[in-house]
Amino acid sequence: GITRHYDFNIQMANVTRLCATKSIVTVNGQFPGPELIAREGDRVHVRVTNHVAHNMSIHWHGIRQMRTGWADGPAYVTQCPIQKGQTYVYKFTITAQRGTLWWHAHISWFRSTVYGAIVILPKLGVPYPFPAPHKELTPVIFGEWWLSDTEAIVSTALKVGGAPNISDAFTINGLPGPLYNCSAKDTFKLKVEPGKTYLLRLINAALNDELFFSVANHTLTVVEVDAVYVKPFTVRTLVISPGQTTNVLLATKPAYPRANFYMFARPYSTIRPGTFDNSTVAGILEYHNPGSPSASSFDKALPIFKPMLPYFNDTNFVTNFTTKLRSLATKQYPAAVPQSVDRRFFFTIGLGTLPCPKNMTCQGPNGTQFAAAVNNVSLVLPSMALLQSHFTGLTSGVYAANFPAMPLSPFNYTGTPPNNTHVATGTKLLALSFNTSVELVMQDTSILGIESHPLHLHGFNFFVVGQGFGNYDAVNDPDKFNLVDPVERNTVGVPAGGWVAIRFLADNPGVWFMHCHLEVHTTWGLRMAWQGQGGSKSSQKLLPPPSDMPKC
Ligand code: C2O
Repeated sequence: GITRHYDFNIQMANVTRLCATKSIVTVNGQFPGPELIAREGDRVHVRVTNHVAHNMSIHWHGIRQMRTGWADGPAYVTQCPIQKGQTYVYKFTITAQRGTLWWHAHISWFRSTVYGAIVILPKLGVPYPFPAPHKELTPVIFGEWWLSDTEAIVSTALKVGGAPNISDAFTINGLPGPLYNCSAKDTFKLKVEPGKTYLLRLINAALNDELFFSVANHTLTVVEVDAVYVKPFTVRTLVISPGQTTNVLLATKPAYPRANFYMFARPYSTIRPGTFDNSTVAGILEYHNPGSPSASSFDKALPIFKPMLPYFNDTNFVTNFTTKLRSLATKQYPAAVPQSVDRRFFFTIGLGTLPCPKNMTCQGPNGTQFAAAVNNVSLVLPSMALLQSHFTGLTSGVYAANFPAMPLSPFNYTGTPPNNTHVATGTKLLALSFNTSVELVMQDTSILGIESHPLHLHGFNFFVVGQGFGNYDAVNDPDKFNLVDPVERNTVGVPAGGWVAIRFLADNPGVWFMHCHLEVHTTWGLRMAWQGQGGSKSSQKLLPPPSDMPKC
């Protein structure tokens, strides 16, 4: 592989959407940010310089970061933030991954505007395991737009112990599209020609919403998720959760069509309408006639076709889709599913409450403060980086390695919620010795209603070996696990009112964050961290910190 160099200058830019201009944090003044392109096996150096008044850090979502945890990015987990005027060079290697990933700010809610695509091409001369597409299309990144400043929204929400405002629009590559007020000119157009097969990369960078996505009168063949190939299958609509990426093949009409086709994305949610943004971002699939390249099929006089999306809370649709995802599991792309398990963990994932601090009037149930937790522990980030403290061994006053392997107070998770909804705050890590094979069952709780949670694990890919509804049955459910071709990924939905079982090998030393990728839940504490120990060989140890690591 070669080394690819990128310069990321964090700077403010004025952007106008929905008829209002606001100053946002960007990379190089671009919104969405620049695309990173590399091949499997390449080294990537990204020189990030912070020119804004806010502390910053960038996460390379889904990049394994083998032994390079210092470059992972979550603020106060693997690094201190990059302060104004400082530069930090993220250095990592792309190991055995190919497809689409993405990068985003990993501090507070800055990822609302600081994000971009990572395109990982296969090694030179290695073909895709599916029919070669005629062309690649520009990646489609779903996002969310707020009229007001998201930092102000979050800090107000934290001060009043309530829920932050919901977004004002969804976007495709930063553009809300014609279904929003004064946004027809801000419509994403995907330009295609007839009779071709395109590779289309999809990224959900939205903060708080899982999304349905469909292109009218066209089918999508799913070939890869989270930079891992899957057995291809064809759908009209797909589901993509925040953090997830999906590559599809889009086959265009054989002949130049005299019609317009919209693409829509809209939330999947099991919570009450009104408590999430239920609006729709539309983009246009625009055909160009190869015979007369300047002509476009987008013409208001022509018929318009719109996709049909499932109802907002159609959990059956989601289950149907996610259970279709399977690893290729071929000789060339084997599924390295741990067949035996060294350690089993059971985590409850869900919302809860904290007692309202004295100086606040909280907006949670019965005057409490909203919170969220894993195994009743709502993670409080320290004021220095966990990884640093792990590396130096100076952990006292920073964290304790006593994260519970089981919930502290077991109950009927999907039945009647307990009277006491309180969670506990803490900074606890769960230690894993090198090469432990882990099975983790994550169970959604019903404490403040059932909800699907897209859980993201840093530093590892995992295999989704099982999922189901209701309470996990540790006696009978494991018999149904798929240990042959389960999908391998970095972000998985814990089903609303259900559970998901994953397996992974703890082969990457470092401190690895795991959290709900719905930003509001992360903010409320739905996050924990694993402490991956190194092995005895030097090639099994975390590398030392780079000399330009920012200081807290
Ligand atoms: Cu894409 Cu820790 O996040």
